[in-house]
Amino acid sequence: MLESPAGVGDCAGRLRNISMSDSVPENSVPATAAETPATETNGETPESPSAAVPLATIATLGQHEGQTVKLQGWLYNLRESGKLVFPIFRDGTGTVQGVAHVKSVEPEVFAALKGLTQESSVIVTGKVRADKRAPGGYELDVEGVEVVQRVPESDPYPITLKEHGVDFLMEHRHLWVRTPRQSAILRIRAEIMRAAAEYFDQNGFIRTDPPILTPAACEGTSTLFPVDYFGEPAFLTQSGQLYIESTALALGKVYSFGPTFRAEKSKTRRHLTEFWMIEPEVAYCDLDGLMVLAEQFLSHIVGSVLKSRSPELEVIGRDKAKLEAILPPFPQLRYDAAVEMLNQAHKDGHLEQPFKYGNDFGSPDETWLSSQFDRPVMVNRYPADVKAFYMEPDPKDARFALCVDVLAPEGYGEIIGGSQRVSSYELLSQRIEDHKLPREAFEWYLDLRRYGSVPHAGFGMGIERAVAWICGLDHVRETIPFARTLHRMYP
Ligand code: 4AD
Ligand code: MG
Repeated sequence: MLESPAGVGDCAGRLRNISMSDSVPENSVPATAAETPATETNGETPESPSAAVPLATIATLGQHEGQTVKLQGWLYNLRESGKLVFPIFRDGTGTVQGVAHVKSVEPEVFAALKGLTQESSVIVTGKVRADKRAPGGYELDVEGVEVVQRVPESDPYPITLKEHGVDFLMEHRHLWVRTPRQSAILRIRAEIMRAAAEYFDQNGFIRTDPPILTPAACEGTSTLFPVDYFGEPAFLTQSGQLYIESTALALGKVYSFGPTFRAEKSKTRRHLTEFWMIEPEVAYCDLDGLMVLAEQFLSHIVGSVLKSRSPELEVIGRDKAKLEAILPPFPQLRYDAAVEMLNQAHKDGHLEQPFKYGNDFGSPDETWLSSQFDRPVMVNRYPADVKAFYMEPDPKDARFALCVDVLAPEGYGEIIGGSQRVSSYELLSQRIEDHKLPREAFEWYLDLRRYGSVPHAGFGMGIERAVAWICGLDHVRETIPFARTLHRMYP
């Protein structure tokens, strides 16, 4: 009968050990069933042909054209038309349509497939046939099938192929990740993370991991998540920056990559309370050097996604030409020039609210600015008052900070925030006081200006914002396996 999924391991070895009275016995599904009328054997097990059947993945079916292969996966969808069944299988690497005719497969195989329920787990054997009309270029002429767990009709898979509301899907995120679109996004996310780390690894940066439990704020006290640390207050980190400033002065060029937390009460399509940030920090680097780093870094990531995740970009319907345009140099825009653009946009009726000079940009402002360029725009030198305490003032005009926000095109807005850091001990002391930060918690940070202080700079890129942009998604909740937002902690 039905196996409890709890007993099913996630590796093939364990799967083979479970008894499946529902499934077809192995020796009744010879790999060559289509050609050989296997039922005519005299009851003996033939020279187990299935043993020689290579295990393949859907993504690499092209290497097996004309061959019989084995796939380990799930039934994504099933179409039936009388004597034919068209099961669509998925295995995490893609989907492929199978074809089985009542006369071309064993009766047990046909019976197992007919009426098979969505998301039942199956090990299927079949011959790979090129088909230009097929989405991946191949179809599978099914020869055998082993049902690992049949989803019962009485408790069907909750996500059907019809449209569902986002709340319902988020509530079922643990299952939603199986749909081809969602798994394509997660594969692209993984590539973005891999390429981001690769860029730094290949360019002389040393990864140094900052703590997640911290005694103080980095990006303002209003979005801290407090933790009870053995009776003492502590906080989940908002950014590893302060710590990697220390390792940058030790190692030269460093980066950190890990989860960060912000108690953001905003319910926007760009905000999560837990997100992943990758942050480089470089000793003897100024704002100009930082902007070159940002454009090289982003171009490397986008290039890697185009190179390695093209099929996934197609699955999600991303316009690749937009990504192919992401090449250095990126346009640079001073805050003042950006404000002029916003004022003009307001005059022309593109923006509802007039922009107040001196403020930070709101989401609609960033959306407008970033939609004016075909590549990321590097907005620099914001008023120091609206930016973090650690930013170096512009020596030409101290009202402005030597900082940069990189706004992704197509209206995506900020994906990177960074700056040159205050290097003077006196100024940093003053800033800590002005911002009413607890000085004791920052003594170590001040040490970095007491002992061998140098100009240094760094930035942070939120992975989810980058994924939203590169995938062309309208909300960050689909960019991370399990989003944490103001109103969501389940699953
Ligand atoms: O601009 P932010 O706040 O900069 C810092 O944290 C600096 N300490 C980084 C540094 O210089 N090392 O955040 C950096 C990036 C943003 O540009 C955005 O991509 C992302 O982190 N981010 C968020 N992503 C999702 N949800 C949120 N609530 C985010 N807040 C910031
Ligand atoms: Mg920012």
